[in-house]
Amino acid sequence: MLIINPVLSSTIAMILYFFFLLPLLTHTQSKPTLTVTPKILSKSGDPVLIQWSGIDTPSKLDWLGLYAPPDSPHDHFIGYMFLNSSPTWESGSGSISIPITSLRSNYSFRIFHWSESEIDPRKQDQDHNPLPGTAHFLTESEWVAFDPNRGPEQIHLAWTGVEGEMRVMFVVGDLERRYVRYSEQDGDWVGNLAVASAVRYEREDMCDAPANDSMGWRDPGWIFDAVMKDLKGGVRYYYQVGSESKGWSRTHSFMSWDTKSDETTAFLFGDMGTATPYKTFLRTQDESISTIKWILRDIEALGQKPAFVSHIGDISYARGYSWLWDEFFTQIEPVASKVPYHVCIGNHEYNWLSQPWRPEWSYSSYGMDGGGECGVPYSLRFNMPGKSSEPTGTHAPATQNLYYSFDMGSVHFVYMSTETNFLPGSRQYNFLKHDLESVDREKIPFVVVQGHRPMYTTSYEYRDASLRKRMLESLEPLFVKNNITLALWGHVHRYERFCPLKNYTCGSIGLGGEDWEALPVHIVIGMGGQDWQPIWEPRPDHPSDPIFPQPKQSLYRGGEFGYTRLVATKKKLTLSYVGNHDGKVHDVVEILASGQVISGGDTDVDGISKIGSGIAAGTKDVVIKSKFTQYVTGASVLVLGALAGYALGFITHARKRKGASNEGWAAVKGEEI
Ligand SMILES: [Fe+2]
Repeated sequence: MLIINPVLSSTIAMILYFFFLLPLLTHTQSKPTLTVTPKILSKSGDPVLIQWSGIDTPSKLDWLGLYAPPDSPHDHFIGYMFLNSSPTWESGSGSISIPITSLRSNYSFRIFHWSESEIDPRKQDQDHNPLPGTAHFLTESEWVAFDPNRGPEQIHLAWTGVEGEMRVMFVVGDLERRYVRYSEQDGDWVGNLAVASAVRYEREDMCDAPANDSMGWRDPGWIFDAVMKDLKGGVRYYYQVGSESKGWSRTHSFMSWDTKSDETTAFLFGDMGTATPYKTFLRTQDESISTIKWILRDIEALGQKPAFVSHIGDISYARGYSWLWDEFFTQIEPVASKVPYHVCIGNHEYNWLSQPWRPEWSYSSYGMDGGGECGVPYSLRFNMPGKSSEPTGTHAPATQNLYYSFDMGSVHFVYMSTETNFLPGSRQYNFLKHDLESVDREKIPFVVVQGHRPMYTTSYEYRDASLRKRMLESLEPLFVKNNITLALWGHVHRYERFCPLKNYTCGSIGLGGEDWEALPVHIVIGMGGQDWQPIWEPRPDHPSDPIFPQPKQSLYRGGEFGYTRLVATKKKLTLSYVGNHDGKVHDVVEILASGQVISGGDTDVDGISKIGSGIAAGTKDVVIKSKFTQYVTGASVLVLGALAGYALGFITHARKRKGASNEGWAAVKGEEI
């Protein structure tokens, strides 16, 4: 009888396990695969197809990370997507197709396993959704590149303020010389060539985190700037930017500034932001897609008439996450390559705790809203008319594009900075006073002043109460004295139109034949894309916000995303509020050259069919006021959903849910402005 020693038997068992069983087990748990096609993209916005297989124990929280540069640390993704967005994820295989934007480096994609028990409540995104964990790396793709000869990207135009000129700016990854070539004939590039200058900013120029830390910083590339000159008025010009050695952009075109025309067309809004096909550390603005879509429709309907865009602060909402600027400029290029894109500065471009002008009364207003950018990307990525400039108080480049003005047709447009000293005696105040007093109202009957934070709002917005008090004391007398036609503001993510105002008091509009006074009409137009408050009614968590019931000075309060369309001749200026959910006009105000407001009462939108001047006119639609019940329901769903979702380690962002109605209106999750 063979007796086996117990020690010997266990030794044999271990040998069998390590040399025979373990290799077999390892073989069955083979590494997942991850492929990406194509490997080279021809331009930003082109899609990649990401396919994976071989995930043995799929979790609904398994996720795909996007990395640019491709060798970034695991937790330095620019964005992420859950694999369960693919219908076959439970089989361990699946695919996702998304467009990606060039950050002037290659991309890689990685898959991580993540489960509910591993959720770290200390790591959350802006909406308090947990950020995915990187402890269990599964696989990585090959690198994806962009065609090095694809030409410059992020093309955007601006008036220079000089007749016969058009500025074009764009971004590339190197400093080799670039040009703009332009012509009245598409493809006839002989003769009209201008050299572009280049600037860039460095990580050390940023003032705080995340803009200057390794999580938020990415190389911004070189920002090129060229001016097309000697343009004839009211002519369509074709242009390309780039170089022979590095490639040219595709051909774009614009209508030149026509100083002989009385007509004016502009598209104006604030607080738009950008949309990304992935989730990231911050909330992004899906509604910006619709805003750009409808404006593009209107530009195409204009045909051979010039127009421009006015985006009055809170522009990309990058707030220190550099790649969101790239996403923003890629998203607006279809519009901004066709018409000038004008801006003024908002809190989310600039505010930081050590900003040079921060009087004691403004402490509640000026915080960390800029994510440490302190206005540097805003100042260098745009080049607006004028030379306004204020020091940052650090070695960083000065803050620019603060206050300026230009005429278009029958309107004098003024841009100001509510983030910069505007009190009497300041450089900005002196500019505004001189500028407003210099307008020849015989030639230019209308004046439109724009800034980010509103002088009037019934959203309450208590944080800016002291700032508004100073604006009313310092600027309103200037506006009234100089017969400002319109004052347009952003910051509050709603549309709200006021009566002609002076010191909170409505002036008569003379409809009954009585005397009337030409007073500024204030309108808040911050509904371009960032989340907004879904109802104009008090809510349990905001009992005094907005002011309710609606004060009589406030004639129309809109509750959906959109933009405004300004059309003016020498006789009349018309401003229309276009809603994103249907692309139609929801409110209109008309003002004569005399300053008299002739329409635009509470629900009086008669005459809409007469406006448009080549743009598709909208229809009367005051549906907003009937949505209260749906909004309350939607808000309740959001609150409950957020709580339950977090407890379960939810996998979709609450703000993306459709909760308010089945018409594509999305309620908000947060109050941030
Ligand atoms: Fe703002």
